[in-house]
Amino acid sequence: MTAQTPWHILILAAGKGTRMRSALPKVLHPIGGRSMLERVLDTARQLHPSSLTVVVGFEAAAIEAALTADTTLRFTHQTEQRGTGHAVATGLHGLAGGEEDRVLVLYGDVPLLQAADLTAVQAQARHSAVTILTTELPDPTGYGRIVRGHDDAVIAIREQRDCSPTEATIREINSGILAARLGDLRRWLPALTPHNAQGELYLTDIVAAAVAESLPVHTVCTADAHSVAGVNDRWALAELERIFQRRQAEALALSGVTLIDPARLDIRGSVTAGRDCLIDANVVLEGRVELGDGVVIEPNCVLKNVTLGDGVRVRAFSHLDGATVAEGVEIGPYARLRPGTELGAHSKIGNFVEVKASQIGAGSKVNHLSYVGDTVMGQDCNLGAGTITCNYDGANKHRTDIGDRVFVGSSSQLVAPVRIENDATIGAGSTITHTVPAGHLALARARQVVKSGWQRPRKPKKTGD
Ligand code: UD1
Ligand code: CA
Repeated sequence: MTAQTPWHILILAAGKGTRMRSALPKVLHPIGGRSMLERVLDTARQLHPSSLTVVVGFEAAAIEAALTADTTLRFTHQTEQRGTGHAVATGLHGLAGGEEDRVLVLYGDVPLLQAADLTAVQAQARHSAVTILTTELPDPTGYGRIVRGHDDAVIAIREQRDCSPTEATIREINSGILAARLGDLRRWLPALTPHNAQGELYLTDIVAAAVAESLPVHTVCTADAHSVAGVNDRWALAELERIFQRRQAEALALSGVTLIDPARLDIRGSVTAGRDCLIDANVVLEGRVELGDGVVIEPNCVLKNVTLGDGVRVRAFSHLDGATVAEGVEIGPYARLRPGTELGAHSKIGNFVEVKASQIGAGSKVNHLSYVGDTVMGQDCNLGAGTITCNYDGANKHRTDIGDRVFVGSSSQLVAPVRIENDATIGAGSTITHTVPAGHLALARARQVVKSGWQRPRKPKKTGD
């Protein structure tokens, strides 16, 4: 975009989205974990517009509430949906800008929009009164057609329902995305009439208005039809989700990550990865996921907001949320890491172990069937199978402090708040309620009783056989 020409971006999002059959406004439905509208806004922001306006109507409050974080957004309210031309007129209401400023119209339900296509429209708009982003479709049904005259110049956009049989065969369609001069729009939009099959004020009629004034109308045709595809129902949403996921998988693979099956990886956030990582089938990555070198994620894992160091192996069926993991750690299978988990280098969290808000020191092992919560554990400890930190008294959470080289025998309970000092040993089956001093052995279990001459109860003999 040239520094001299201010660009204003309008995003139309007032429509009802009836075919979604949803209580959620259409543009708030997610693609790749982020709402369609936010995706369009992300793309729009890449163009550094002078102003960014969202035209809302149906469920306006819900849409505005979902976007409160962005204070630079303008919202305008289209109380009655009288068509795309009316929506743009509503969006321009109260917009400060000169006649020569440019306006770019986007739709809130076209989520895979590419910034490169928009910059191509902006470049073309220097030489045009109206610039339309188009694509060619094998089946153009439902879209507005680009009607050209003898010299191939665009003369109109004709909506499906207003097409003659010949016009209906045109395969170049209006994506809905277009650019025009602010001054021209201010002149043309009030003159729109609803004399068409839908009785609406069509934005697309500005093309004929420009042609009537002998002003140039041009198209930018994108080869990528998905990038301008709109979502009207949940099947379209599902299809675009797959397209989006495939694009992300491709980018990740090309960045050097081995994907066992790109169709069975879902990324709902951002992923960075070092060299030679491998992601097996059925993995979902959410939020911000950072992988070091040589990380292996086995099948059926969910990772959300995690950082994994070099050589980490996440074994099958593990669920990691909000964890920071140092190099060489092995997790799972069937492990659950909850927010605030920090695992030191070469530590090990085994099967059916849950860790929450805890630090596990380098080389420490919690291998089987344990719960570790609100705990700081030093290095080279071993927590035996079935060890539980009892961190909750029904009202408050309490901390467990474990030193270095502590050995906890299987099936022990550490009743917090409690401290186990360096090199302490706890006998299996103990319920620990007091500090265990450094180097000591603690046993807190009933003594074994052995009775001689004891007879097992016998079943009474059945009679009558
Ligand atoms: C529109 C275009 C059509 C194009 C198609 C691409 C017109 C007249 N037609 O048709 O040429 O091929 O998009 O998908 O422009 N909206 C409002 N307020 C309104 C009406 C619509 O905000 O009063 C918003 C909708 O929420 C939606 C977008 O504008 O995001 C498009 O509206 P829609 O009714 O879906 O237009 P189409 O009939 O699909
Ligand atoms: Ca539509």
